[in-house]
Amino acid sequence: MKKHDCALFDLDGVIVDTAKFHFLAWKKIASIFNYDLTSNDNEQLKGVSRSDCLQIILKMANTVIEPSKFEKYLAQKNLDYLDFIQDLGPKDILPGIFETLIFLNKRKVKIGLGSASKNAEVILSKLGLTSFFEIVIDGNKVKKSKPHPEVFLRGSLALGVVPEKCLVFEDSASGIISAKAAGMTAVAIGNPDKFLNEDFCYPDFLSLVQNDLDKLF
Ligand code: BG6
Ligand code: MG
Repeated sequence: MKKHDCALFDLDGVIVDTAKFHFLAWKKIASIFNYDLTSNDNEQLKGVSRSDCLQIILKMANTVIEPSKFEKYLAQKNLDYLDFIQDLGPKDILPGIFETLIFLNKRKVKIGLGSASKNAEVILSKLGLTSFFEIVIDGNKVKKSKPHPEVFLRGSLALGVVPEKCLVFEDSASGIISAKAAGMTAVAIGNPDKFLNEDFCYPDFLSLVQNDLDKLF
């Protein structure tokens, strides 16, 4: 019997290093409020929806804006972000991801995406990975941002796999909390200091693939 029947991938920071482009785009917006957004601040923005990110930044910058300007800043951030990722392509798939997708296919493990991003479909397509994903649950489909479990619960429902048989790959603290709240196995990618309640943690995807892929499925 397989240990897990389904793998749910986060996108930004797991499959591709777009986290740095989100950061650059938010840094530009924060500078309008005279706030120098640090990479440490950026950890709080990972896994969080676009509008929640802006709320967090406004709080950090101790700034209040007119409600009518809110959408304008969101649109500007996304335009800058799309500009940064213009040349994204298969060369940007993080090491170990492609091998894992092939491995999961061979094992007949279902594959889904669980991302807060509204750009998820565009990015998967740029990377040439769309066909690997049976379902995509993204920022256009969920109402409640990570750490709420909605994104992963919808993924498990859409794939017809009970949460206990789902495994989540995540690089954000909020995403790990979300996966655990959904009753799933949570695999964290990154520095263990960042996470609270993960089941496993690897510094990067490649070390997971080289050591433990077989153990997890
Ligand atoms: C998540 C990122 O995947 O998507 C967050 O980790 C980002 O940093 C969120 O804010 C929303 O992304 P987008 O592409 O809809 O602005
Ligand atoms: Mg992420």
